[in-house]
Amino acid sequence: MDNIKDYVNKNQERFLNELIELLKLPSISADSAYKNDMLKTANAVKASLENAGCDNVEICQTDGYPIVYGEKIIDAKLPTILVYGHYDVQPADPLELWTSPPFEPIIKKTELHPDGAIFARGACDDKGQMYMHVKALEFMTSTNQLPCNVKFMIEGEEEVGSVNLSTFVKNNREKLKNDVILISDTGMIAKDVPSITTGLRGLSYVEVEVTGPNRDLHSGLYGGAVANPINVLTKMIASLHDENNHITIPGFYDKVEELSKEERNEMAKAPFSLDSYKKSLDIDDVYGEKGYTTNERNSIRPTLDVNGIWGGYIGEGAKTVIASKAFAKISMRLVPHQDWEEITQLFKTHFESIAPEGVKVKVKPHHGGQGYVTPIDSIGYQAASKAYEESFGKKPIPQRSGGSIPIVALFEQELKSKTILMGFGLDSDAIHSPNEHYGIWNYFKGIETIPLFYKYFTELSK
Ligand code: BES
Ligand code: MN
Ligand code: MN
Repeated sequence: MDNIKDYVNKNQERFLNELIELLKLPSISADSAYKNDMLKTANAVKASLENAGCDNVEICQTDGYPIVYGEKIIDAKLPTILVYGHYDVQPADPLELWTSPPFEPIIKKTELHPDGAIFARGACDDKGQMYMHVKALEFMTSTNQLPCNVKFMIEGEEEVGSVNLSTFVKNNREKLKNDVILISDTGMIAKDVPSITTGLRGLSYVEVEVTGPNRDLHSGLYGGAVANPINVLTKMIASLHDENNHITIPGFYDKVEELSKEERNEMAKAPFSLDSYKKSLDIDDVYGEKGYTTNERNSIRPTLDVNGIWGGYIGEGAKTVIASKAFAKISMRLVPHQDWEEITQLFKTHFESIAPEGVKVKVKPHHGGQGYVTPIDSIGYQAASKAYEESFGKKPIPQRSGGSIPIVALFEQELKSKTILMGFGLDSDAIHSPNEHYGIWNYFKGIETIPLFYKYFTELSK
């Protein structure tokens, strides 16, 4: 790929400004108040693909938010890359913790990003990373260097479970036919330690409701004599882990893939400082399943976490009350071979069985998805590895991530192709948190590396 560095240098300012414009649109898929902004964002993505040289760009309607599709087919005999990304973002709250408004992007310098980082919701997850692909395509088409075919599929419901995308993929297998799927929606170890994500965890997300008496009660008149749903719920939740922090749901670990000693030793070679980890989070120690390291706990081991819990009086001052109901939202991150629907069922059966007399328990499943692992001997992985080696001057390390992109397992099932996860974010970029940001160095480095993947994938496919 000739002149990619020059091209990026020459167009830096425009590349930043275009991304900033996209980040101004509050495309929050979880909140229906932002429906108009979602549609505006889909249109902006469509226009950007057209400007980058894509053909047949269309807004595909679904039962939810639209999917933006476009393609550039140069020769049916050449391989086809399918690029996937998402234009929706997480809600921005708690707003008061942002140092600048989430949809008024600004560039600020940070310790890890001395060249500056763009602060905005979606800067890294996933508008910034998705837009690198649009600009990489622009480079290849405008300099006549596109070496293969490409299809783009950018959805608007990743952050809410990609339910309508599943249907779209099942109904459009021919249209989406490809030789490899390329995604930038994960991270890398550090700016000087490039890595390729080889695994994602699965997910089961449930909501539970515990009901005691038929109305809120005076905690003096009734306290001690009836089950308090909040007391009961917290006790039930506490029992879901034992003293070694193993999950106690019967059957939960039955299908968990156990890694060999060799694989675990290989993993342990990735650079990691427990001290900086603790320091960056302001904690005096880490916590988790006995017998596993921090990097294992957040990648190859399944987890169960309360994501939210509520009930009773939480206003100012004190109110003496026993609530009628208590609620919690619980996520379970899963590893290869654990089936999310089966785990959801195991959770439900167990949680209902541990409810004491005097309360009623409801378990409501939300969304979920399977985990994913990709081999490192595929053409796609090798091509990605060569691309990083050329742009970073270092061979990338394979790394399993703890996050989830549930649609990836479905892609493999329906489209029969492997996904390559070339993520350029850092764990410290605060995705889903206040002050999300994306380093401009990472943004440009991504734009530089992507065309090299196209080049090596085409070469290795011959
Ligand atoms: N891009 C993230 C997933 C991710 C981030 C994977 C960093 C690996 C490293 C994605 O947008 C996301 O947030 N996924 C959700 C799941 C979804 C069903 C809401 C998640 O992991 O919580
Ligand atoms: Mn994402
Ligand atoms: Mn996300």
